[in-house]
Amino acid sequence: MEMDFNKSEDIDLSAILVIFGGTGDLTHRKLMPSLYNLVRDKLLPENFCVVCVGRRDKSEEEYKKEVHDSVNKYSRNKIEDGIWAKLQGMIYYYQFDFTDINGFTGLKDFLEGLDGKVHTGGNRVFYLAVAPEYFETIVHGLQISNMAKKPGAWDKLVIEKPFGKDLKTARKLNNKLLEVFDEKSIYRIDHYLGKEMIQNIMVLRFCNSIFESIWNNKFIDNIQISLTEKLGVGSRGEYYDHSGAMRDMLQNHIMQILSLVAMEPPVNLKTDSIRTEKLKVIEAIEEISPEFLKNNVIFGQYGKGFIDGNPVVGYREENNVPKDSNTETFLALKLHVNNFRFAGTPFYIRTGKRMGTSSAEIVVQFKDLPNILYFKDRDVQEPNLLVLRIQPNVGVFFQFNTKDFATHNGIIPTKMDTSSLSPAQGNTPEAYERLIYDILRGDATLFSRWDEVEAAWSMADQIIRYREQKKSQFPNYDSGSMGPVRAFELLAKDGRKWWNV
Ligand code: BG6
Repeated sequence: MEMDFNKSEDIDLSAILVIFGGTGDLTHRKLMPSLYNLVRDKLLPENFCVVCVGRRDKSEEEYKKEVHDSVNKYSRNKIEDGIWAKLQGMIYYYQFDFTDINGFTGLKDFLEGLDGKVHTGGNRVFYLAVAPEYFETIVHGLQISNMAKKPGAWDKLVIEKPFGKDLKTARKLNNKLLEVFDEKSIYRIDHYLGKEMIQNIMVLRFCNSIFESIWNNKFIDNIQISLTEKLGVGSRGEYYDHSGAMRDMLQNHIMQILSLVAMEPPVNLKTDSIRTEKLKVIEAIEEISPEFLKNNVIFGQYGKGFIDGNPVVGYREENNVPKDSNTETFLALKLHVNNFRFAGTPFYIRTGKRMGTSSAEIVVQFKDLPNILYFKDRDVQEPNLLVLRIQPNVGVFFQFNTKDFATHNGIIPTKMDTSSLSPAQGNTPEAYERLIYDILRGDATLFSRWDEVEAAWSMADQIIRYREQKKSQFPNYDSGSMGPVRAFELLAKDGRKWWNV
């Protein structure tokens, strides 16, 4: 499938993309395969090149060979010689240790040399694909070498998560970024926003009268956001143990999804109009009181168990994880968004590693009708469910009741599922393709604005502090299960259950 992304003819996309962390995992697994597909779909301009900054001493040929292998392994489209030739012609490897602040002048000269050769107009995208402890160092290097805000050219700074480790450090980092770049030039990546179905939340809601007119507390009983993974922490034990599910998933991906699900229609589709409505949702989240923390938040950590029939170790036995770690690998949460649209409708959220399924879904459960006609004394009324499937399948599932034609007067839930019909099925464009293209053309809609990040941290911080003070009885769920028993009780005590349709 060829992606179009509303191809912009009139914007000058000429630029040098400078990737700090050129030899890292993100570059190899996501960025390079995405660039390959952007070349394939003819979405990169002629006057464009990629400078990969890495500490390791290697020749450009060696580096390109490694990139070739990664593209071969991770690209959604098979590698073709002609397309690879184009991409590899754009790649330069620049060896330097970015903790050596004096080295930035050398990089600056190198980039300026390329400006003349590739005619990039002096435009830059600085992509920080490095560990978060280097974010400020690199931005400082760009500052003292005067690489940012060059007259007559544009520049952008792309920053991966985690954006700080709490509100305080996020503010400090943000202040540093703003010393060097304008807010509108900063692209804070949340790769979930690049996923097809996440973008489809707004389309479904605001392009269908049948959904939008009932998208509120009068008709919706509860909404469930469930992001579960079979994967454990793998080689990321050190990062993850300082992060946990709260920082890794809730503060960013889940808050973004919640905002899109619960936001009011924006006045138009401009970036800031959308971001402003999203922000209001986070601001409307109920107060995180001691009562809330006690009753509405469940933490979990995986013990050993089986994934797809294969034995796996518990979290505390993973590499680089302390044997007595108190970090949560699972989180379930019930919260309310106290605005006119949703006050009274609970949102149930869960996310976890090493669970029985790998899936990301939003389930909207509509209220039951009064049980005075068909469901009066026989059949149990199955609710109307709308499921937005984010992954592994992409699509929409809808459940509604019809007559059971096989019986005299039975009622059965009918299930409509568009997942298999989705044009994106099987070859969904990498979220990063979309995001890189949007960065180049200056569309920040799918990135987080600072005040959104700040509001999400304010909320998450309170839960994190509570978790850190609390000595949990971990591990409390087996690998391959669907999380701790208490996560089921959270809904059961409200007379509800997690849907797994
Ligand atoms: C990342 C988290 O942001 O998202 C990972 O750091 C997690 O821990 C990943 O596995 C999930 O993303 P996806 O796209 O695989 O659902």
